[in-house]
Amino acid sequence: MDKVIGIINGTGFTVGDSILELSYLIAALLFVVGLKLLSHPQTARKGNLWAASGMGLAMITTLLLHKNSEGDGIPLTNVWIIMSAIGVGAAIGWSVARKVKMTAMPQLVSIYNATGGAASALVALLEYPNAIAGDIGSLIVTVLGLIIGSVAFSGSMIAYGKLDGKVGDVMKPFMTYINLVLLIVTLGLGAYIIQSPNLPEEMAWAVYILLALSLVYGIMFVLPIGGADMPVVISLLNSFTGIAAAMAGFIYSNQAMILGGILVGAAGMILTALMCKAMNRSLLNVIIGSFGGGGTASDLEQGNIKEITLSDAAILLSYSKKVVIIPGYGLAVAQAQHIAHELDTMLDGKGVEVKFAIHPVAGRMPGHMNVLLAEADVPYDKLFEMDDINTDISNVDVVIVIGANDVVNPASYDDPASPIYGMPIIDAHLAKNIIVMKRGMGKGYAGIENFLFFNDKTRMLFGNAKDSLQKLVNEIKSM
Ligand code: TAP
Repeated sequence: MDKVIGIINGTGFTVGDSILELSYLIAALLFVVGLKLLSHPQTARKGNLWAASGMGLAMITTLLLHKNSEGDGIPLTNVWIIMSAIGVGAAIGWSVARKVKMTAMPQLVSIYNATGGAASALVALLEYPNAIAGDIGSLIVTVLGLIIGSVAFSGSMIAYGKLDGKVGDVMKPFMTYINLVLLIVTLGLGAYIIQSPNLPEEMAWAVYILLALSLVYGIMFVLPIGGADMPVVISLLNSFTGIAAAMAGFIYSNQAMILGGILVGAAGMILTALMCKAMNRSLLNVIIGSFGGGGTASDLEQGNIKEITLSDAAILLSYSKKVVIIPGYGLAVAQAQHIAHELDTMLDGKGVEVKFAIHPVAGRMPGHMNVLLAEADVPYDKLFEMDDINTDISNVDVVIVIGANDVVNPASYDDPASPIYGMPIIDAHLAKNIIVMKRGMGKGYAGIENFLFFNDKTRMLFGNAKDSLQKLVNEIKSM
């Protein structure tokens, strides 16, 4: 194993080194395969396992085969300490992940992001003394790892607090300027450390100030962002964590860490961009802008609200050919996914073609509706994305909007003053009949009126989504 088989950059290269590098390559491939499988609900579970096995492989081979510059392996005591830490972390992660409610998933992701960011920042902090003064490359990755990791850590903790209702919103305009100054000072200090010809031990004071500034910036950056925008911010912080991990990988010249970090960083960035696009907002608007509540649209003629009785709804649905169910945040709150599937099966049995229309930002987290419907065993081939459903929606006999609001709001076409003007929606208003299930006339996340509810073709079925659906299913059964 230890036999030197070659020399790279003046250092002997053993069989063990080759196996270690090969295992990193395999781990990186497993990450990529895992990520690919994660992109579809049917294969997501498998994707998680593939990526996790890549990480497991990289950890085991590192513990067994890693050597320092003197050619010594990791001391046995350290191996035990590392294994104990992994054991404790894994046990906590396992039990928390098993217990967490689906609706609290974003909070959990925030905490995981925070720990990833903290780990990368700690690596940078501990390895700074080993960075060589004047070696710009190693100093850049160390300083960037410290800044990005710290921002990801403290920002994610605030994001967690906001999502969990522990931290409230703070005045925005005033914070934006402070944050800009803070960012410039932090980056300026980082640049000063990088270009300084002083030895690392002489610069320790500056590094600790940089750590403090970065932590404060993370807090100040997330504090003014609205609670409901947190999913976008979490995805952004997730990509920061990935980038920080990649920087830590550069510090150790560890291919698996570099590639894993870059994959997380890129995936987080793409998800952030997709969410912003689906909400028709720029990232800058999410970070420093305001959203919701102030939307006008009220000068448009409202019209009247019409209600539908359970028996009329049951008859209308039973004698339809095509029905589309549009789930939204209210379905998640009411936990009405199982009963929605029961309605689907029942109508299916009557020869009605039933599809579920999924808007990319329905609910409060990416893939929220997919996850809920998968939990209720709705077959994947019944789930249709917004663009696919919209092409044929004018031929649909009835759309049932269950606890969705903004994602079906035609103000996105009609009202240039609306905050959601231009946001892509599911064109429920084009269907032949529209049934809307919600508790009352409560607004959605954007805090604006929805003129779909006043549409001539719309009839409201008021009540908690789960109760209404249960009653509707009973009514259809008794027909
Ligand atoms: P929303 O527009 O938030 O509307 C949800 C509706 O559900 C409310 O109008 C509410 O009306 C109703 N509701 C609440 N509890 C209910 C219950 N127990 N039973 C029945 N109805 C209930 O939801 P949406 O259409 O899914 O849109 C999502 C919004 O969140 C979008 O604006 C999107 O941009 C935003 N957002 C999404 C994400 C992601 S990644 N998904 C991230 C950030 C922001 P009542 O009070 O009258 O019942």
